[in-house]
Amino acid sequence: MSTTEYFADDRRLEHERLMSQSRVFDPLTRRLFDQAGLHEGMRVLDLGSGAGNVALLASEYVGPSGSVVGVERDPEAVEHAQEWCTLSGIENIEFRTGDVQTLDSMTERFDAVVGRLILMYLPDPVDALRRAASLLRPDGILCVHEADMTDWTTADSEHWHTARRWVLDAFERVGTRIRMGPSLYSAFLEAGLPEPRMTLEAEVGGGDQAPVFGWANAVIAAAPLLERLGIATAEQVDAETLTARLTDDMVACNAIVSSPLMYGAYCRV
Ligand SMILES: C[S@@+](CC[C@H](N)C(=O)[O-])C[C@H]1O[C@@H](n2cnc3c(N)ncnc32)[C@H](O)[C@@H]1O
Repeated sequence: MSTTEYFADDRRLEHERLMSQSRVFDPLTRRLFDQAGLHEGMRVLDLGSGAGNVALLASEYVGPSGSVVGVERDPEAVEHAQEWCTLSGIENIEFRTGDVQTLDSMTERFDAVVGRLILMYLPDPVDALRRAASLLRPDGILCVHEADMTDWTTADSEHWHTARRWVLDAFERVGTRIRMGPSLYSAFLEAGLPEPRMTLEAEVGGGDQAPVFGWANAVIAAAPLLERLGIATAEQVDAETLTARLTDDMVACNAIVSSPLMYGAYCRV
């Protein structure tokens, strides 16, 4: 089945990037899970599990009497996530290689299906939601967290404007849905699901609280793609100094920087 090109192709680096990005997004996802009603003893499916951070969050909610399955199409990511869980002594998560657009290896049913920053990479997120919902037990929870990549605050400087343009150009050129967050409501309805409850949050701050590393890491992870698409060369990205340049600009004008706006949507099916 066709799928959009993922913007980061070095999987070892991407594992590190997702681990550090989760510092920004996990508190937001935790509040979403609280509202959606994840609880002890549930069996949860995590769509597009990447480095495993959302699966880990879910595993804390379900506890030892529950369990989590993470599905991820990249076998290297699955291997890293499984390795990390084993080393951390986490026993209630299993990662599987698979495509969330088909979920054809899934025969069992779940109490909740969750996913963060995954629908944005799918050509048909409505169909993916429909398939995910079909794996739920009666009264199961469907809960997703997606971004509006166009809506975030940066410092007003050349470096920040360029970094923002690079990220958006690269995502758009490979067909990523950069405004998946605001489309969640209609996607649920088009999938024939009940009207979702919605949440909206972002991480924001200046100085040490600003999620500068998140944006710098996204540009660095996308550097090979930026070069391939003719958007920016490795020299222009200058990965070694990017974080420092972005931080210096922000500090110089007492600016704040935010994460993208994160939209949560959940319903019982
Ligand atoms: C931005 S990462 C998010 C990872 C994780 N959900 C988190 O929030 O930390 C998106 C992940 O989805 C995976 N992915 C993209 N398309 C997929 C598909 N069709 N099936 C399964 N995984 C997919 C990518 O390989 C990547 O690891």
